Amino acid sequence: MENMPEMEELLIHRGAQALKAGNLVAFPTETVYGLGADATNSGAIKKIYAIKNRPENHPLIVHISSLKQLQNWAIEIPEYAKKLAIDFWPGPLTLILIRSSLAKDFVTGSQISVGLRVPSHKIAQSLLKKFEKIGGYGVAAPSANKFGAVSPTSAGAVAQELGDLFTSSDLLLDGGNCDVGIESTIVDCTGNFPKVLRPGFITTAMIEQSTKLNVAIRGLESSERVSGSFKSHYSPSAKVVLNGSAQIGDGFIALAFQPTPTGAIRLATPNNVEDFAREIYSAFRSADQLRLRKIVVLEPAGEGLAAAIRDRLKKAAHGN
Ligand code: TXA
Ligand code: MG
Repeated sequence: MENMPEMEELLIHRGAQALKAGNLVAFPTETVYGLGADATNSGAIKKIYAIKNRPENHPLIVHISSLKQLQNWAIEIPEYAKKLAIDFWPGPLTLILIRSSLAKDFVTGSQISVGLRVPSHKIAQSLLKKFEKIGGYGVAAPSANKFGAVSPTSAGAVAQELGDLFTSSDLLLDGGNCDVGIESTIVDCTGNFPKVLRPGFITTAMIEQSTKLNVAIRGLESSERVSGSFKSHYSPSAKVVLNGSAQIGDGFIALAFQPTPTGAIRLATPNNVEDFAREIYSAFRSADQLRLRKIVVLEPAGEGLAAAIRDRLKKAAHGN
């Protein structure tokens, strides 16, 4: 941490102290902003559920600073899960593993598995390291938005979502815009082979290449309690319409090569799927700020990250 500007170091220190004291700390990760609390403190975890208005049986991801912390939280870690952790951590990948006794019901939603992730964002890394240094084990953090709403990809978006509900003991760390822009890939590692529960930047092809195993993908009819697996999620107030034709006054989101329909309001002009993922949630937010009633999105084609974007878009559009 030698090169860290003094101010940032002070804020990280305060953040770690706030976590240890049972308060909430919203912090940037490379995917989206998280709303963090001490993963071993039931009172602190209760605050997360209350502020997000999140159903109680909904498990949280525990964030740790490195692979070394993994065995604190998980037991019976299969070889392929170790390989994934080695290849993709720190990074936008969450592993679901059989929990240790440290992972209590209040963080796992009473399931016998626990979600674990090592984020790569510099501020997330510093915060987790500092927290572990003062005796912490891990930081439970869902995306820092109201349940069912759009994940925040900037500190401003967190303030907009939850700012009013923070107390003076809670903290929001500003780390700029998130690089990836959509939530981590979630891989269930409790079976004999990996199963993708939520697609993301780490693609199925990458997981197959790393593990040399066939990868299953969650079926649509699955009842697993992955919040992203609710049919409707990640939704702005505006109605999201996929691949329709935009009328005058509608919001419009599409890759740069697609021209803006006459009278439509262009909300994002991504040059590629990486930009698309990075910009989609802030584009949804600007639509709501402009009080648009409808957003037409032309979905990106292809596998990998494009498929992950389409997964989020489908949920954002559900019910419309
Ligand atoms: O990129 C991300 O994963 C962000 C950043 C902050 O790390 N976090 C995030 O958390 O998206 P959240 O709570 O919004 O979504 C996490 C998902 C939830 O849908 C939850 O159901 C699922 O992970 N999850 C957590 N533990 C699980 C478990 N043991 N079994 C199945 N799903 C689990
Ligand atoms: Mg979320």
